[in-house]
Amino acid sequence: MRDADVCIEFTNPQAAFSNIKKIAVLGKNMVIGTTGWDEYLTEAENLAAENKVGIVYGSNFSIGMNAFFEITEFAANLFDKLTEYDVFGFELHHNRKVDSPSGTAKILSEIVLKNMERKNRFQFDRVNRKIEADEFHFASIRAGNIPGIHTVGFDSEADTIELKHTVRNREGLALGALKAAEWINGKTGFFNFRDIFRKMVLQEK
Ligand SMILES: NC(=O)c1ccc[n+]([C@@H]2O[C@H](COP(=O)([O-])OP(=O)(O)OC[C@H]3O[C@@H](n4cnc5c(N)ncnc54)[C@H](OP(=O)(O)O)[C@@H]3O)[C@@H](O)[C@H]2O)c1
Repeated sequence: MRDADVCIEFTNPQAAFSNIKKIAVLGKNMVIGTTGWDEYLTEAENLAAENKVGIVYGSNFSIGMNAFFEITEFAANLFDKLTEYDVFGFELHHNRKVDSPSGTAKILSEIVLKNMERKNRFQFDRVNRKIEADEFHFASIRAGNIPGIHTVGFDSEADTIELKHTVRNREGLALGALKAAEWINGKTGFFNFRDIFRKMVLQEK
């Protein structure tokens, strides 16, 4: 680790923050892909500043999924104006995954809420009652070996539109993590991978 330019951390929610501390104290930049440690985000940001290191974190480093985020943002904006459509989401992952909903489901839900004025709250749990009009229901299923499927749908009386991202293998994630490592090399600060993707692909400042 001492000889690395940038460290890449994909472990588990219990180990992630302690690894971030160890890497920061060594003065190394890092890419953090582990999900489920959100409560430590502010502390991690402070660690980056105190140790003058660069940290890129993200719940999904897949290039395809980051394109999917942009498509979801566009669709949420569009369907917000088409009031006959409601929105829903669900995700499927293998039976070894320890966190639920997936970090990616949380990002998709934040995108939907931010871009649909009609929706104010997400609901990841079972809803044992009639759903409220301003709720966005996003369900999680765990089974078998599924590497990861996320669907966001829009439904009216006339039809259903489903946007679906299916992971085929981990290459897209690995590529995104490596691109993030190249980007953060030599920089300091605390960055979300989605913002970096937008800078790299959409040339955002
Ligand atoms: N952001 C993204 O794009 C993305 C994509 C995929 C997965 N993830 C997340 O990344 C994490 C790992 O997922 P995965 O499917 O790769 O899990 P995994 O197959 O279980 O791999 C985890 C790896 O971390 C190692 N590890 C465990 N505890 C450690 C520690 N304290 N210090 C150093 N290494 C440790 C494990 O080693 P041993 O086998 O020796 O225990 C294993 O090699 C999860 O939080 C998952 O949600 C994120």
